[in-house]
Amino acid sequence: MESINNYLRQNKDRFLTELTELLKIPSISADPAYSQDVLDAAEAIKHSLEKAGCDSVEICETPGYPIVYGEKTIDPKLPTVLVYGHYDVQPPDPLDLWHSPPFEPVVKPTEKHPDGAIFARGACDDKGQLYMHVKAFEYMVAEATLPCNVKFMIEGEEEVGSESLAWFVPRHREKLANDVILISDTGMIANDIPSITTGLRGLSYVEVEVTGPNRDLHSGLYGGAVANPVNILARMIASLHDENKHITIPGFYDKVEELTATERAKMAEAPFSQEAYNKALDIASEYGEEGYTTNERNSIRPTLDVNGIWGGYIGEGAKTVLPSKAFAKISMRLVPDQDWKEVTELFSKHFKSIAPPSVSVEVRPHHGGQGYVTPIDSVGYRAASKAYETTFGKVPIPQRSGGSIPIVSLFEKELESKTILMGFGLDSDAIHSPNEHFGVWNYLKGIETIPWFYKYFAELSQ
Ligand code: BES
Ligand code: MN
Ligand code: MN
Repeated sequence: MESINNYLRQNKDRFLTELTELLKIPSISADPAYSQDVLDAAEAIKHSLEKAGCDSVEICETPGYPIVYGEKTIDPKLPTVLVYGHYDVQPPDPLDLWHSPPFEPVVKPTEKHPDGAIFARGACDDKGQLYMHVKAFEYMVAEATLPCNVKFMIEGEEEVGSESLAWFVPRHREKLANDVILISDTGMIANDIPSITTGLRGLSYVEVEVTGPNRDLHSGLYGGAVANPVNILARMIASLHDENKHITIPGFYDKVEELTATERAKMAEAPFSQEAYNKALDIASEYGEEGYTTNERNSIRPTLDVNGIWGGYIGEGAKTVLPSKAFAKISMRLVPDQDWKEVTELFSKHFKSIAPPSVSVEVRPHHGGQGYVTPIDSVGYRAASKAYETTFGKVPIPQRSGGSIPIVSLFEKELESKTILMGFGLDSDAIHSPNEHFGVWNYLKGIETIPWFYKYFAELSQ
């Protein structure tokens, strides 16, 4: 595996050019206008897996976007690693806040990435990170050092809820059989503080619609005498948290796993500066649930947030109108052992119950998924830990993340194997935001670290 550094030196320009080409494809799964581009991205991934040395690669059709599946079997007696990633990306909006166009990648230095970062939608989430696996695999095949069988399963609907993958996995249990699932679609604490993600939050995402009068009204003629659904929606949403920022939905916390004082003390050992955090976000002060630290609030505690809210007149200038309808999109991040369907039900019931009789309320669930926690004594975790130790010179810190990859809990249920989350992004990489980027150093460090995972995983599996 030592030869990876040589291989990187000789090929890093090509590795960057290839990633750049992939990032030019606007594979936005949420927007049907880009469906051809999403399919093109699948083709590009297929081609890259073939070139890297898979024995076979297929584009597997599903009711939605296809799954790209590739494999290389070197010896059925050796352990098998299943690599998961996603080739779809988030919409780049708002476009005017990008310093360079989202699908015309450029490399520029940043404070956190003095050696340069590649700016493009999907650079970190997840094209850059999934491509590290393709290149690490290419190296192991080229130098004949691949110590495990490999399966790649790359989907195109992660950013919209992975519905087609949830359909695909139970239908192909045998084909997908593996000893460990490896994913790079999360982050780490800092470039000099490696960490391994040991948990993901679950999610319940709903849309609400509040209807007052049967048409928009003159806000002078009717204002004050008829319920304004925007005013009402604002009140209803505000009431979902109490003064301690606890969520007020009855039963919401019933199944929330409480961490022991020891576990919380362990968490608090991870390096963290509240001051740097506030400064990076230009906020004067943190905000959140009473009794918990910032790192607890964004990982081991459940949340409720409005993601978007609209209604009435939002065009130029003023129009006096009392709107007929108001809408909001609301996400709840969940923790073990909350059940997302149950929480969606609790929300729906409560939200309807707090509406005054002068409006009607509809709650439409979008998608959701269970949280995930991975043990730190598994063969996979120990292999990952040794890999980071080898390439970073430091033992990585286990850390639960606030983000969600809902399909991971389904993998555990259907494929009965643990997932190891080796993410190389930073929180400041602006995933889902304008100017998303991925450090060139991080990209190459990922390619360097992954082959060590394979080596240690094979050794520790014996
Ligand atoms: N890669 C992210 C999730 C993530 C990022 C987890 C950083 C941990 C650290 C993934 O692509 C994502 O954005 N997931 C969505 C959920 C999905 C159902 C739309 C999310 O977390 O909002
Ligand atoms: Mn992702
Ligand atoms: Mn994402």
